[in-house]
Amino acid sequence: MTWREYHESTKHSGESLRRAPHVLDWTNMPDPFRHYEGVPVLDLPADPAIPDIPALEVLYGASGSTPAGDGPTFLSQLLFYSAAISASKRVPSTGDRYALRVNPSSGNLHPTEFHFLTRGLRAWPDGLYHYRSSAHMAEQRALGGLEMKLAGTSAPIVFVLTSIAWREAWKYRDRAYRYCLHDIGHAWQALALAARAIGCDSFAAGDFVDDEVAQCCRLHEDEWPMLIVELRGGSIPVHEPDAGETVWYGGHANRLSKERTAYPRIDEIHAATKLSKRACRGSSPAEPAPTGSGEIKLPSPVSSTRAFGDVARMRRSALDFRGGTQSMSLTQLSAILAATTQPFLADFADTHFIQLYLYAHRVDGLQPGVYRLWPDPAELEQIKIGDQRVAAAGLSLGQDLAGNACVAFSMIGDLERAVRAYGDRGYRYVHFEAGAIGQRLYLAAEALGLGATGIGAFYDEEVHRYLSLAPERGQVVYHFAIGYPVSDPRLEA
Ligand SMILES: Cc1cc2nc3c(=O)[nH]c(=O)nc-3n(C[C@H](O)[C@H](O)[C@H](O)COP(=O)(O)O)c2cc1C
Repeated sequence: MTWREYHESTKHSGESLRRAPHVLDWTNMPDPFRHYEGVPVLDLPADPAIPDIPALEVLYGASGSTPAGDGPTFLSQLLFYSAAISASKRVPSTGDRYALRVNPSSGNLHPTEFHFLTRGLRAWPDGLYHYRSSAHMAEQRALGGLEMKLAGTSAPIVFVLTSIAWREAWKYRDRAYRYCLHDIGHAWQALALAARAIGCDSFAAGDFVDDEVAQCCRLHEDEWPMLIVELRGGSIPVHEPDAGETVWYGGHANRLSKERTAYPRIDEIHAATKLSKRACRGSSPAEPAPTGSGEIKLPSPVSSTRAFGDVARMRRSALDFRGGTQSMSLTQLSAILAATTQPFLADFADTHFIQLYLYAHRVDGLQPGVYRLWPDPAELEQIKIGDQRVAAAGLSLGQDLAGNACVAFSMIGDLERAVRAYGDRGYRYVHFEAGAIGQRLYLAAEALGLGATGIGAFYDEEVHRYLSLAPERGQVVYHFAIGYPVSDPRLEA
């Protein structure tokens, strides 16, 4: 299977939804928490200091600092503001509670796991760890200096983000692989921005040999390595790396559900996007993104002093938005869009593959309509005039929130250009970028007192028709909505 076959076969249409209705088997829902059992588990200190640099400044590229003087405190702070549990919801009918995390996830199913290698952290043994997000602890899977086949890196902290596709496929079936990729993009930015807020730099690598990394980390066979993120910088408390031999504990991965339904299309697209040898960065640089201009110049962004730590942990997906007349300002929109156009630091990010189309419903000073964002210079090009609320909701599989928001988005991915540069691997990169933009939209909206929701469900071809997108202009890969959230009675913390 090629990326194209997978993408075509997982498009939503009225017909595809009617043809194959899906009933969820709640008794077989995969456990959203992975544990590697039987290994030493290390505490991460409670109540890490809040990164107090304003979130918008971090989104625009500024770095904060950390008071952490040792490895455990540093790791605790990093993970508490990127991957930890941050709230819970109660199901009204049963009273059952379930956890929500700093990083969002389609259907709250959390296919992404965080593994990390450390070298030379003060008061923290060198080794390989898996983050136990259910308890904010680190499972020590190996001790000592591991052979760093991962990215040929000497960074003191290297994360390996993995996906467990079955968690997502349980609900979303074949389309789930797309959501796993989005979720990795969200997790990557959650991590990269938290790292920046506490004073370190990150760089993500998508170019690695999948099976080597899986083997190096002795991942359970249901976990697939997707992205490597290395962290460096003066704020990381380091000393000389340990000299000791590697000792493996490994651990026994918990079983996530009684049964696992096979989704051969997911296995095939994953196989098609794997690398069997490193693809030598830069040998075929991606063609630059198209440039253009619009008639509306975006004003200077409004500012916000809300601290990164508050924003990261308070971020939530809105259940719906308050329709009505309350609008957002054009300077708020400008601030949100500016957050999406800052560079991404990754080996596949020399150029952008995503272009944003906006369905403006209620933005002061902007006529309702559809606009295309040109990032440099920051301008909006008007594509359609008139009320877009019914269209935006309809295109998003009839989800009201896309019409009740102040603004909704279609992210158009230039899949062809990505694949020309990176082969089928490029399919992953376009979705990572979409998820990464989504994470920045979530945080920018939260920083400005607005709410946001990622939307993975849309009628693909109808979006293309509505936006008059010729196939060479790209395909829709993600939707998003921002506005004034309704209160969610299920939310507990
Ligand atoms: C890739 C992705 C796709 C999503 N798609 C939808 C969607 O179509 N409709 C919706 O209401 N929420 C959607 N969400 C929001 C999730 O349901 C939400 O992130 C999850 O329930 C966890 O809640 P939290 O974001 O408040 O942590 C999506 C989130 C992500 C990351």
